[in-house]
Parts: sequence; structure tokens; C-alpha cells
Amino acid sequence: MLLNTQALTKTTPTTIQATLLAVSYAVYNLLLHPLRAIPGPKLWAVSSIPYLLAWLSGRAPFIIHELHKTYGDVVRIGPNRLSFTHPDAWRDIRGHRKNGQAEHAKDPAIYAFTKNTILGADRAQHARFRRILSHGFSAKSMQEQQPLITRYIDLFMQRLGEMTTDKSGRPRPAVADLVAWFNYTTFDIIGDLAFGEPFGCLDLSRMHPWVRAIFQAMEQFGVFVAFQWYFPGLLTVIKLLLPGDYIGKHADAQMRYARELLETRLALGTSRPDFVEAMATAKSDDGRMLTKEDMVANARLLVVAGSETTATALSGVAYFLARHPRVQEKLAKEVRSTFASEGEINLLSVNKLGYMLAVLDESMRMFPPVPNQLTRICEGEGDRICGFYVPGCVSAR
Ligand code: HEM
Repeated sequence: MLLNTQALTKTTPTTIQATLLAVSYAVYNLLLHPLRAIPGPKLWAVSSIPYLLAWLSGRAPFIIHELHKTYGDVVRIGPNRLSFTHPDAWRDIRGHRKNGQAEHAKDPAIYAFTKNTILGADRAQHARFRRILSHGFSAKSMQEQQPLITRYIDLFMQRLGEMTTDKSGRPRPAVADLVAWFNYTTFDIIGDLAFGEPFGCLDLSRMHPWVRAIFQAMEQFGVFVAFQWYFPGLLTVIKLLLPGDYIGKHADAQMRYARELLETRLALGTSRPDFVEAMATAKSDDGRMLTKEDMVANARLLVVAGSETTATALSGVAYFLARHPRVQEKLAKEVRSTFASEGEINLLSVNKLGYMLAVLDESMRMFPPVPNQLTRICEGEGDRICGFYVPGCVSAR
């Protein structure tokens, strides 16, 4: 049985009692806890603080990778927290389970603040959101979205062309911040699909303030999640004390702007093959439609989930291609021998590019755009993951 430490910590009237409680908690975690035999650094086993510090440093994936090099495929990275690197763990933690058992739930420590979106919703709500949003991702919808997507890719290529050719059309050396340009492109595409209008990044060759606010909110994400989970009271105090644009304020501003954009798109009332159309017209299995607030939250989530991730994946690909000219040459040969002109390249025809798909896969393996999180929590009696018994309430990643 796991010790309910949250309930215990509420009853600590004196410093001595608090110290005794902390010591017994540490001793329990180290010597009596069901995870006591799992390898890992002792300090990480007795307290959540080392994991919290790793998380806040922004370097948790690297730090935990080092722990795996020392301790093996499974490491105890917190009193109730395990990290796995064995390939089978992916299926055991996130895959379908046997005998019709429900999948492991998403760890509320990480996902609680996205619970009003498809990403962090509970099972019933997730199924509802997923059913409705899937209409925007069907093969038919994607075919219809193609002209919209192509428009931004053409504009991206045009902008790169303008930077790398002189007035007479001859190539000239230029330095371009590709990470920014990939983000301009993906934010314009997904913004158009999720809100019905682009952010104008490619048109103006600069980041829209809303997009910039996403990056600022992401920088705060670690602090925000950590405080919300471990010290919720403190977070409220910090929010009150700190000036203007600190913790959570960027996220609040984004939400307001997202609501304005969505209301403008809905007021148009026109039919177009975007995600808004799916959200505003489709019904879930129980016949319910999304509320306005559901739509705002999910539209915003789609922009964050689809844009920065894709731009980061492309940035990784560009970096690796620049570092490996042989691969770059082979890839260019594949593209140029498969297509006679840019016009032949579309959502379906790119699937012919086997080497391109391998380059994308390998780049994402080496430079994953989402290197952290994806933590699931074992419920009830627990489960076996990679042959290890993981009790209920323990989170695994
Ligand atoms: C290279 C690009 C992308 C990467 C690396 C990526 C990564 C991920 C990952 C790791 C998850 C699982 C999150 C979890 O379980 O906690 C996820 C979920 C999701 N992604 Fe992406 N993503 C990419 C592109 C996109 C795009 C383009 C969209 C939409 C426009 C999108 C929308 C979503 C949504 C809606 C979910 C939640 C799905 C669900 O819970 O059923 N992603 N993505």
C-alpha cells in the first residue's frame, strides 16, 4: 500500500513534527515503499525535489538519460515515479491493454492544466473531442485542405528564394534563421486551419505577437506545471505578486485572442474545409456538439500541438542534412528523380519518397520535438511494465 503523503502533510503543526514526518517519509520511500528494489539514485527515491529541479532546469531528458546509462532500462526518478527506456515500455505504458482494460491514464501532474482539451481530457471527454476533431483530419478533409496548405508552402519557398537571389535572379549567399521561417510557415498553416485565418508571419516576415506569446508561455510551462502540482497555493501568491506578464499571464492573453479569432471565424458562417468547420458542425457518439469554450480551448491546443512541433522537427531535419552532405545529396536526388516539377508534389505523392520518410523518422528519433512528458499513471491495483510490477498511483514514462 502507498503512503498518502498529501493527507499527512496537511497535519504538521510543529517544526519537530514536520521534521519527523519528513524523515519517516524518506525512510518509508527508501526501505518500505513497493518501488524500493527499483534501481536509481537514493535522493531521487526519497524526495520529488531532484526530479522537480531537473524538470525546472529544462534539461530533464538529458539528466534522466544519464541516469539510465548508470542504472539501466528502468530507473526510479521519484518516490512514485519511474522512467523506462526499454522499447517494450512504449507499448506497456501507452498502448492498448489486455482483457479490455482501459489504457493507463495521463499523469495529472503534467496534463491537468490541459484537461479542457483533447490532450488532457479524461477518457469520456477525450473520446468525445477525438470523434469530433477527427472530421478535420479525415483523408477527404486533408485533400480539401491541400490548396490552403500549398499556398503557405509556396510563400515560404518564395521568401527563401527572395533571400537567396539577387535582383537579376542570380543565386547569392544569404543567412536565414530557418527555425524562425519553419515556425512562420507552420503557424500560418495551422492558424488558418484552426482559426480560419493565418497569423501573417510569412506575409510580414516576422512572428505574430500571439505566436511569440506561445513561445513565452512554453518557457514558463515547466515552472507553471511544477508549481501547479507541487505548490498550488504558492502559485496563486506568485501570480498576485509578480508584475504584468509573468506566470500564466501569457497563457491568459492567448486564450482571449484565441476566443476573438474563433468568434470572428464563426461569425463568417462560411463553409471551408478547416478544423473550425469540423468543430462547429460534427457531433460525438452521444449526439452532443462542442461548446464555444470547448472549441476555443481545442483550437488553441491544435495550434500549439501542430505548429511548433512540426517546425522543430523540420529544424532538426535541416540541421542533420547540413551536417551530413552525403544524405542531403541522396535525398535531393530522390526528390528530383521522382518529380519533374514542384507542382507534382502533394500530400499523396510525397508518400513515394521512401528515403525522405526515413530521414524524417531518423531526425525525429535523434531530435524529438517532444522529448519529455508523455507520462502515464497506473491506476487501481497497478500493472506490469516491462516485467516490473508497478503499483497503482505510480507514474511511468
Ligand atoms: C512533427 C510533428 C508533431 C509531433 C512531433 C507531435 C507530437 C505529438 C505527441 C508526442 C503527442 C502525444 C502527446 C501525449 O500523449 O501526451 C501528440 C498528440 C497530439 N497531436 Fe501531435 N505532433 C506533431 C504534429 C501535430 C499536428 C500537425 C497536429 C494538428 C494539426 C497535432 C495534433 C495533436 C493532437 C490533437 C494530439 C492529441 C491526440 C489525442 O490525445 O488523442 N500534432 N502529438
